[in-house]
Amino acid sequence: MEDQAQRFWDAYWVDQGVTVTARTMTQILDRIKLGYLRGILPTSGRCLEVGAGSGRLSCWLAQGGYRTVCMDFSPNALKAAQLNYTSATVTGGFLAGDGFALPVQDQSLDIVLSTGLLEHFRDPTPIVREMVRVLKPGGLFYSDIVPKKFSLFRSLDWLGSLKRSMIGSQKGQEGYYERAFTSAQIRTLLREGGLTDITVFPAGVVPPYVPLLYRSERLRDIQVSWVDKTQRLWRGFDRTWVAEWLGFYYFAWGIKPS
Ligand SMILES: C[S@@+](CC[C@H](N)C(=O)[O-])C[C@H]1O[C@@H](n2cnc3c(N)ncnc32)[C@H](O)[C@@H]1O
Repeated sequence: MEDQAQRFWDAYWVDQGVTVTARTMTQILDRIKLGYLRGILPTSGRCLEVGAGSGRLSCWLAQGGYRTVCMDFSPNALKAAQLNYTSATVTGGFLAGDGFALPVQDQSLDIVLSTGLLEHFRDPTPIVREMVRVLKPGGLFYSDIVPKKFSLFRSLDWLGSLKRSMIGSQKGQEGYYERAFTSAQIRTLLREGGLTDITVFPAGVVPPYVPLLYRSERLRDIQVSWVDKTQRLWRGFDRTWVAEWLGFYYFAWGIKPS
């Protein structure tokens, strides 16, 4: 139920601090993402991020001179995104709305993005169609999708679940949903959403997230620096069967036909 999902996400983002400048694995993954995006983005333009959450990706794009709008149905997410923009000393728009009915005119944008959004719906086709509707012909659709699947990065998540169940601190998950996806299914999703020139590939083979390690800032920094220094090695698995097996996300993009 949509109201329940909205409640879940709004509680998730409550009092979220600045994340865009924090030196974490997420920042390294953002940089990898931007590396791919640089190769496909137009040189300038208006850009909308749907389900923007903390707005980190849009924030990076705003730093690169794009005119960005972060859209989310969670007021707390929009606050978190604003905080990140302020911390990065960039400006942008912030829009409350539902991805199933974007409060945006047809064919008004050069780029539409989502990151970690489409896996949260049993059928995300209507959202993809909405994102395509607001794109100008020739505009770029980009999404990264983090489906329910085994991955090296999440292979130790069970440690955190075990600890939470032992100390009885399981947070309410009502309203949270995550589905599985394969490259082929994502390709079909984009095609049925009305896109052409589609690219989809698995990525994100990185060492496991170790919750205990993240308790110590020093240990976390060591892990983050090591992954950063060996980034090329990890990126080398992108687009391969190893990433289909051990990666934790997919990159997907396409163009709205003229
Ligand atoms: C996993 S989070 C995305 C995280 C974000 N990409 C980031 O980097 O912080 C999914 C986001 O989608 C938003 N969302 C989920 N369903 C939505 C809907 N129907 N309309 C608008 N936003 C939605 C949630 O509020 C949440 O912020």
